[in-house]
Amino acid sequence: MSGKRSVTVTLDGSNKSTSLPLMSGTLGPDVFDIRKIYNDLGVFTFDPGYGSTASCDSRITFIDGDEGILLYRGYPIEQLAEQSNFLEVCYLLLNGELPNAAEAKEFELGVMRHTMLHEQLRTFYNGFRRDAHPMAVMCGVVGALSAFYHDSLDVHDPESRRISAFRLIAKVPTIAAWAHKYAVGQPFIYPRNDLSYAENFLHMFHAVPAEDYKMNPVLAKAMDLIMILHADHEQNASTSTVRLAGSTGANPFACIAAGIASLWGPSHGGANEAVLKMLADIGHVKNVPAFLEDVKDRNNHAKLMGFGHRVYKNYDPRAKIIQKACHDVLNELGIKDDPLLDLAMELEKIALNDKYFVDRKLYPNVDFYSGIILKAMGFPTSMFTALFAVSRTVGWVSQWKEMMEDPQQRIGRPRQIYIGAPRRDYVPASKRG
Ligand code: CMC
Repeated sequence: MSGKRSVTVTLDGSNKSTSLPLMSGTLGPDVFDIRKIYNDLGVFTFDPGYGSTASCDSRITFIDGDEGILLYRGYPIEQLAEQSNFLEVCYLLLNGELPNAAEAKEFELGVMRHTMLHEQLRTFYNGFRRDAHPMAVMCGVVGALSAFYHDSLDVHDPESRRISAFRLIAKVPTIAAWAHKYAVGQPFIYPRNDLSYAENFLHMFHAVPAEDYKMNPVLAKAMDLIMILHADHEQNASTSTVRLAGSTGANPFACIAAGIASLWGPSHGGANEAVLKMLADIGHVKNVPAFLEDVKDRNNHAKLMGFGHRVYKNYDPRAKIIQKACHDVLNELGIKDDPLLDLAMELEKIALNDKYFVDRKLYPNVDFYSGIILKAMGFPTSMFTALFAVSRTVGWVSQWKEMMEDPQQRIGRPRQIYIGAPRRDYVPASKRG
């Protein structure tokens, strides 16, 4: 990775200089290795938001934000979305290669045999208010898994890591579906291991004991697709949170709970929920121009939710795929005219031609259409981000596992520029003005 090229940095006004090696990945821009800059020059680097900083090396996911390319282990997202299935993608992300038929079967059995929750975990749900946000329940219950599965908490043992990975991937759909059941006051539906991963989730979410639940294959396919599209996305905020928590040696259940907390924010996974709220607030196509004026007014904090991305300065490839899936699902459900979809498409059309958005290279991201498709599939808005968390768990676990297997792994510990008060002496309360 480290080639012969380097850059020499000289600190003005001193005789200190250092040579920083240039590192190259398989794809993507080269990177300066700044690790010895403090030793050699006595200065740090400053990069709040990490826009110019690689926090790790990784073999899992690659994004070319200018070209709108997303690869999982080298495979284009478009090909995986078209030809693969979610559990195969899970295997790929975790292990680096696509499985052969025997490996796929064994992996599926491995995951699906862990779908049930410890029966005592059921009682956790009673501790939440019925109107708790599903993400609050997810943070709590996923974190609580560490109190139940003591036999897979040794982060330095490969077998423990393997079982924890299975447990997390298998149990998050059950946890999310039960968060919904608890909110609406319906009985919890137990997992069915004869169904596919996506079907099992739909079943646990929608079925009730009083009726037979008829699986719609188009919706099951759409669910599987949505899961594939959200499975991993390089070093985003929640993944970096998982890695940072994991770098301390914390157990994987606690690390994934931290990732769920980080995903919740509207700038990240919470955007899908925020998009629907925004569309409802706009209400009608005729209000789009006024809404966009509000967004462009820098005195407002309003954003066009579902637009813009730290890395993509082009169309998010996931948004293209999900937009098409959205039409397929609406067709299947016989929804001819969906006012929200019409509104979203009009908003997209106007924004893509507006100088403000063009100049800033703001394009629709995956969340722009995911809310519309999830709503059509019968998911309440409050569940959207929880669904994102279900799909992203495999990415978090894969990134955590990769980090734990790296012999050079150290605790993550950023530095700061201190801009507070200089050293001063304590003043007793009686002498303060
Ligand atoms: N609406 C209006 N203006 C925007 C938007 C937006 N959605 N996104 C960025 N901008 C403006 C921003 O105000 C700034 O303008 P200026 O240069 O005049 O100050 C410029 O574009 C650059 O934006 P930035 O804030 O430096 O970009 P960032 O990389 O820090 O933020 C983002 C990325 C995703 C947080 C941001 O685009 C955003 O808040 N988008 C809306 C929320 C959203 O859809 N999030 C989902 C992201 S994709 C799913 C996921 O991976 O979680």
